Amino acid sequence: MNLGEKVIYQVYPKSFYDSTGNGKGDLAGVIEKLDYIADLGVDLIWLNPFYPSPQKDNGYDISDYCAIDPTYGTMADFERLIAEAEKRGISLMLDMVLNHTSIEHEWFQKALAGDPEYQDFYYLRPAKADGSLPTNWQSKFGGPAWEKFGDTSLYYLHLYDVSQADLNWHNPKVRQALYQVINFWLAKGVKGLRFDVLNVIGKDPNFQDSQEPGSNQEKHLYTDTPIVHQWIKEMHQATFGRYDDIVTVGEMSSTDVANGIRYSNPTEQELSMIFSFHHLKVDYQDGEKWSDPEFDFIALKQILDTWQKGMSDHQGWNALFLNNHDQPRSNSRFGDVIHYPYETQTMLATAIQCLRGTPYIYQGEEIGMTDPGYQSIDDYVDVETLNHYQILQEKGYPIEKIMNIIRKKSRDNSRTPMQWDSSKHAGFTKGTPWLKVADNYQTINVERARKEGKIYKYYQDLIQLRKDYPIIQEGSYQGIQLDHPQIMAYERQYQGQFLLVVNNFYAQPSKLMLPSKYLDKSSQKLIGNGPLQFLTEEIMLQSYETAVFLLKDG
Ligand code: GLC
Repeated sequence: MNLGEKVIYQVYPKSFYDSTGNGKGDLAGVIEKLDYIADLGVDLIWLNPFYPSPQKDNGYDISDYCAIDPTYGTMADFERLIAEAEKRGISLMLDMVLNHTSIEHEWFQKALAGDPEYQDFYYLRPAKADGSLPTNWQSKFGGPAWEKFGDTSLYYLHLYDVSQADLNWHNPKVRQALYQVINFWLAKGVKGLRFDVLNVIGKDPNFQDSQEPGSNQEKHLYTDTPIVHQWIKEMHQATFGRYDDIVTVGEMSSTDVANGIRYSNPTEQELSMIFSFHHLKVDYQDGEKWSDPEFDFIALKQILDTWQKGMSDHQGWNALFLNNHDQPRSNSRFGDVIHYPYETQTMLATAIQCLRGTPYIYQGEEIGMTDPGYQSIDDYVDVETLNHYQILQEKGYPIEKIMNIIRKKSRDNSRTPMQWDSSKHAGFTKGTPWLKVADNYQTINVERARKEGKIYKYYQDLIQLRKDYPIIQEGSYQGIQLDHPQIMAYERQYQGQFLLVVNNFYAQPSKLMLPSKYLDKSSQKLIGNGPLQFLTEEIMLQSYETAVFLLKDG
């Protein structure tokens, strides 16, 4: 399978299109908008979870793995979605949330009712001799990672929300049950699988205290443990490895290149590719997400470079992305959406999509949707955001500072309803949207983007470019002048040709000296958003300008 040729579009169903008027998007809504997605030229749609769920973490708290939550529709809708997508040459990638279930899942409920078989599906542990929690670990959403298990003297582990109980993968019955879930969806014709937080499934059952609660040291106690590779290989064999056309991607929290290679090098028989997140932590103060420093541009380039080179040298494969449902919008984060909305969005798209890997586009980025900049905490609904609103107050931060941080970092930034047109609620729903629409929907919306906007057209062209040029699909990667304070430049190389990709990440125009090896060749500009046309010893890039050149002998 040629992974380098594929482009994946992420749909967050709850916020995509509401066909019923209940304020939440649904599967029938995705079907209605399939032509729009198909027009972009993508190959797969990754759908965030739509399974039955109490929605404590927007569907990542699953209470039944093999059904459809009624707010999203029915199994018949899902089957129609697969068929309609296939008609348009698009396959579906589903989210597999196998690290934890909702505490409302039947397995957890049976465990609570005292069934020992199901109690062994989770990590249940007694308090320490001194009465304190089994370990001092922190939940990733804030607060301790252990919660009292019913009215027993035990505690259950939850690395995420208290409603998301971690499954005990050491129990072979758990693994078999999860493989059945995967096979259930594969039998329906699903061609892609995105595995949620997959590299934290291998907890050491002799739970050890962390020396520094909430730190990286703590994460290492349960992240990328050797047994994770063993279990992914087992899962591969028992499920998607039986087919030859399934695209898989593991969401790997705090991983490293060495593990990334093992997860994605085809000879390992684990996954097609991985998401890593280090490049999106460049606006964390000392590793702390809930802070709001300027982003560190040099670090962004260095991290992308390390992953590009490392994975390329050892046949690993990266998922390429700057946006998803957990991240603020990258244009609001790394650019200027007020003065240079077109330049910012197209530059970021080019910088990330021309790298070596498989690009993911998150709904709305193709029209330049931005963070909503809500004024009141009451507009936010995400559990992580609301928890940190409390935690930051307990730390003594003034409310204004807390709100500034939340406006920048909240996961709700990307989850606002898709902006379809300039009618009420951006045409997303006829009812009241579950999350407020961004105020700028009258200028930023699909209808306008298709009629007069340039961003959408640019995305179409960029996607087509990947289809047309094997150098983008398969070329090696080499960074250029990583210490340049404004420009991200890199080359790709393939069968004696070069692709040169240059991106100015700032409004201030900036110069780049080019090595002579490019100047001896004939060059052709393939895409760009600004005036630069020819390569000379020194090139000048305007505000947020991007350009891609193909260089050949002769
Ligand atoms: C992943 C998901 C995120 C979810 C978390 C727990 O990081 O992308 O949305 O909250 O896992 O399932």
